Amino acid sequence: MSDLISKADVLPLHSRTPLEWGRAVLADPVPLLADHAFLEKKAAQNAMELLTRWPGEWLPGWVETMTGIARDEAAHLSQVVRLLTRRGGRLGRSHSNPYASQLRALVRLGGQDEIIDRLFASALIELRSCERFSVLATCAAEMEGAEDLAALYKALFSSELGHFKVFLKAAHRTAGGGVRRKLASIPVEFRWQEMLAAEAKILEGQAVGPRIHSGVPA
Ligand SMILES: [Fe+2]
Ligand SMILES: [Fe+2]
Repeated sequence: MSDLISKADVLPLHSRTPLEWGRAVLADPVPLLADHAFLEKKAAQNAMELLTRWPGEWLPGWVETMTGIARDEAAHLSQVVRLLTRRGGRLGRSHSNPYASQLRALVRLGGQDEIIDRLFASALIELRSCERFSVLATCAAEMEGAEDLAALYKALFSSELGHFKVFLKAAHRTAGGGVRRKLASIPVEFRWQEMLAAEAKILEGQAVGPRIHSGVPA
């Protein structure tokens, strides 16, 4: 088992991606990279969106955290586009990600619950991407001429793992202890477990194809 796969094994996801998925999507790297580029763009936009959504009173460090993530995601976007253009591909104008849309549909609207759920949805996307990058890094390392892809996925694994931890911590901080204790309508850990279970179901329902959040071939 590769080093990254064993690191991914301890992530709290409710399902695991087999190496067969990685081999199948890497057979078509151009659309895979084009899809991936849009995910990085969306992740940068999401962090900028969250920039002004600090919960309740002003939270020290919130703006610095979100700008830091947005900066990382913009850097990932340019790395992915470099590998995409090297393979003769280019960024399209539009993109859809049913997995992310279905996750966002879980967000309860209004008050602190909405911010907590948005942070959890962001954490889940980072977490699953992390797990998928561990599979992709392992499979790309087995392929000839895919050293640049293996290096990219390995580097992104660590960065997205860091983002996952930041979003998870921000959600717990938003639900908070002490004076913030009553801000979440249900215990935050319960909500996190609910969303983890929902994420695995949503992923399972995705169509197969060369995308980061695609379904697993039968
Ligand atoms: Fe990223
Ligand atoms: Fe990220």
